[in-house]
Amino acid sequence: MTSDDKVARAAELIRAGRLVAFPTETVYGLGANALDPDAVARIFAAKGRPRTSPLIVHVDSIEMARTLASHWSDAAELLARRYWPGPLTLVVPKRPLVPDIVTAGLPTVGLRMPAHPLALELIRAAGVPIAAPSANRFTELSPTAAAHIPEALADYTLDGGAARVGIESTVLSLVEAPELLRPGVISITELEALIGPITQAAEPVEGAHASPGMHVRHYRPATPLFLDTVRREGRGIVLRMGQEMPADPRSFAAALYETLHRLDAQSLDWIAIEPPPDTPEWAGILDRLRRAAG
Ligand code: TXA
Ligand code: MG
Repeated sequence: MTSDDKVARAAELIRAGRLVAFPTETVYGLGANALDPDAVARIFAAKGRPRTSPLIVHVDSIEMARTLASHWSDAAELLARRYWPGPLTLVVPKRPLVPDIVTAGLPTVGLRMPAHPLALELIRAAGVPIAAPSANRFTELSPTAAAHIPEALADYTLDGGAARVGIESTVLSLVEAPELLRPGVISITELEALIGPITQAAEPVEGAHASPGMHVRHYRPATPLFLDTVRREGRGIVLRMGQEMPADPRSFAAALYETLHRLDAQSLDWIAIEPPPDTPEWAGILDRLRRAAG
């Protein structure tokens, strides 16, 4: 099959209410027709994800985003024009056509236009917005390659190579005063330069939280992970910045999950990672590392 045939097949499955794993620039997503509550229910079942955790809806354009948002602010327009397609999710008030199951009953919806050609072709061919969490089981490591996706999670998988960004999108709420719900490679500093002051969400409490995907146990590899450079008993590896891991944040993010997936397959007793600096450019990485280390 050619790439066009594969996208056509995947789009047909989306329209039929099935699940399609597809590449984005951040991580692979497990997608379903966002306007079909039964299809979206299959995502929660496949992942073992609690229904209290809202999904991001992927769009192919600002126009499609506006059909799902009941209010599209100047800040939303400015941010979307600057960063879409790209690793930024905007949480905005939703229209009634977005099913409650997508947003975990919240009156808001997270929207993102992904920067991967196959993701955009898929949304276009399906002709509907696609709800998609990362294509992993709940609390496990996000996939940055098709080979990382657990078998039988999706009805079909589109392989688009290695994810370029490597960690999940920055999530910014524009529902009230701008609030950063999840850090990512687009830093709070960059966003503030465009729209002014942004508050940072307090560490979420499991169960009831503004950004329920921010579970403390998210992003965890199977191997015990430590945020230091200490060698321990048994078989393990120390990953230092500028040596085993890249020294700049973009390259570090791109390598992080790929490295953890690869090392997890080696059944080591431990992995130690040198903690990066606590600065805005590293915030997304530090957040994922802290959750992975637990
Ligand atoms: O890069 C990404 O964001 C990837 C790719 C596939 O797009 N997706 C992803 O989805 O990481 P997931 O489900 O693993 O994380 C979604 C995040 C969670 O932190 C969730 O709480 C937040 O987005 N979110 C979604 N809708 C929300 C809403 N209405 N209000 C607050 N937070 C929301
Ligand atoms: Mg996830």
